[in-house]
Amino acid sequence: MTCAPDATILAALERRLGPKGFTRDAAAMEPWLSDWRGRVHGAAAALLSPANTDEVQAIVQLAAAARVAIVPQGGNTSMVAGATPSTSGNALLLSLRRMNAIRALSSEDNVAVAEAGVILSDLHEAAAGIGRRFPLSLGAKGSARISGLISTNAGGTQVLRFGTMRALVVGIEAVLPSGERFDGLSALRKDNRGYDLRQLLIGAEGTLGVVTAASLRLVPAIGARAVAWVGLSDPHAALALLRRLEAGTGDAIESFEAMPANVLAMVLRHIPGTRAPLAGDHAWNVLIEATAPAGAPDPVEAITALLAEAAGDGLIEDAIVATSEAQAEALWKLRESIAEAERGDGPAAKHDIAVPVSVVPDFLVEGSAAVEQKFAGSRVVAFGHLGDGNIHFNVMAPAGADGRAWVEREGPAVNAFVHDFVAARGGSLSAEHGIGQLRLTEFARTAGPVRLGVLRAIKDALDPLGIMNPGKLVPPLS
Ligand code: MLT
Ligand code: ZN
Repeated sequence: MTCAPDATILAALERRLGPKGFTRDAAAMEPWLSDWRGRVHGAAAALLSPANTDEVQAIVQLAAAARVAIVPQGGNTSMVAGATPSTSGNALLLSLRRMNAIRALSSEDNVAVAEAGVILSDLHEAAAGIGRRFPLSLGAKGSARISGLISTNAGGTQVLRFGTMRALVVGIEAVLPSGERFDGLSALRKDNRGYDLRQLLIGAEGTLGVVTAASLRLVPAIGARAVAWVGLSDPHAALALLRRLEAGTGDAIESFEAMPANVLAMVLRHIPGTRAPLAGDHAWNVLIEATAPAGAPDPVEAITALLAEAAGDGLIEDAIVATSEAQAEALWKLRESIAEAERGDGPAAKHDIAVPVSVVPDFLVEGSAAVEQKFAGSRVVAFGHLGDGNIHFNVMAPAGADGRAWVEREGPAVNAFVHDFVAARGGSLSAEHGIGQLRLTEFARTAGPVRLGVLRAIKDALDPLGIMNPGKLVPPLS
């Protein structure tokens, strides 16, 4: 059980952090007390914005001594309200925004050492400056920060080739719930000293400590890329196309993102300056990116030939390959704006599921039909990372219904139905967004005693006082 901070601890924090690092001003705190989709609203006793790891350590030590809860926050782009405090107003909201230095960049180690608050697109730029690339990207790259990406084990649009954050974090620095500092930044390719604290902290959603910096894997910069948009009839054809392209290009395909006609229409409706890439209508669309490092053959030729062959075989209906960077960016904008467009389209029962890649096409067809039959009038809006088996499977209210009221009333039953459908196919109810607050009930319902027991044992071992991001990820004992 955590406590409200008293005047003594608040004064001590204010003294230690100074005016830039401490505020209780309601207007200054307000933007950070709700999740970005505006679904969950919380309160905090103070907003703390430390400038360095020493200050984070001082905060955690004071909070641990007084049993006060800490809610770490990066860019506040969580899809599951993982960085939003509870409504009690007793927690300290710990923003990592001011810790935004890139401490080191090495083209010899192929590593960047970035502080927790570095914005993903800033890391991309810094890596490009030394002829390298940090190969993880997502729609929120202009605001998502390293600490949140690590704490949610973020995925995004390049997982097919480079994996999630788990594959890209090679070292980590964190302040543990005890207030001790774990200095694991050294970027070792091999390190067999038993349990891997780095991997425990990745995906821990701030429940095992505050990530303050990380060593991140870099890969060679892109020399040339082919970005293509394909119209086709169904997701089975899409998966067959992916396997063909992989066979025809070796390791070059790094993004394979699918969206049905209703999702493309939603983007065109809400995002200014967008237009349909192909002349006709297609039930499904796929955005493909293939890349090659400098000096390797330009993938445009191979992709163009493979798509022409696929069209000739009747596997796809139409395709374009971008002929300029501006066109490539315009195609990516269509994909990366989906979350924003969805927000404009109104509430939905959202799901971030993973199934084996081979199951995705049937899942999309059968899952959509099953949901729309069970929940009369509901509309499935499903899109995502077909190449890695992660689909954002969202269910919207019947046309004309009050969306918010419908989601509130039907949401729990829809969630249970979708997650059971996924579990029956060997899948997961959280592919890349984490558990946070919004998936906690369903996680507790479906996880099973062994997984939950281990999760709680780890939490109790590292955070026996329960001060780190309470109410997220670890379901309470019922
Ligand atoms: C995406 O792939 O666009 C994101 O994960 C966001 C979403 O689920 O809407
Ligand atoms: Zn996604």
